[in-house]
Amino acid sequence: MLLHVPDVLTADEVRRIRARIDAADWVDGNVTSGHQSARAKTNLQLPEDSDAARECGEAILAALARSALFFSAALPRQVYPPLFNRYGVGMTFGNHVDSAIRVHPPTSRRIRTDVSATLFLTPPEDYDGGELTIEDTYGTQGVKLPAGDLVVYPATSVHRVTPVTRGERTSSFFWIESMVRDDGERSLLFDMDMALVRLARDAKDHPSLVTLTGCYHNLLRRWGDA
Ligand code: NI
Repeated sequence: MLLHVPDVLTADEVRRIRARIDAADWVDGNVTSGHQSARAKTNLQLPEDSDAARECGEAILAALARSALFFSAALPRQVYPPLFNRYGVGMTFGNHVDSAIRVHPPTSRRIRTDVSATLFLTPPEDYDGGELTIEDTYGTQGVKLPAGDLVVYPATSVHRVTPVTRGERTSSFFWIESMVRDDGERSLLFDMDMALVRLARDAKDHPSLVTLTGCYHNLLRRWGDA
């Protein structure tokens, strides 16, 4: 399931994060690549152990904690500390699948990547190209979102970033180990949760709401790891 989560960051938060990371030192993006992706990738990245990456990553984690939509879609068990990348003119990241298990060197945390996430930090009108292109079950999806918006998609998907042809594209990217590792099960739970939210609004006294809410939690109990 590919989902757009709007307004994860406020405009003010985007400005503060951009000011902090734009002033930091960037390095070759291949520091986090596996063998296959290193061949496909030309971009810049903030070092994972830099103060700017750590502080801005924590601000993003705090913002994610406010988002009920993100929680429902990803059912996060742990979130990899957010990283930051930048594509200038001519930079690109060809087709690849993200590594299944990642270790965050500064903290030695190891997570299984079930869900991939990109948080856009540049307004789309400021650059051309740089489109996140994801091979989904239903075909190819091009994603280019307002600054402060997030996209989450299954980490099993083949995806790429098309070459930037004007301006610069700065984003945060990270992975989520979900309580529900299977994308199909996670998608069913998400659809059910969204339907329950609508029912609670439109028919809040209907007795079936209790039964259906119970079904949601009992499926989560069956499929999820806390
Ligand atoms: Ni990737």
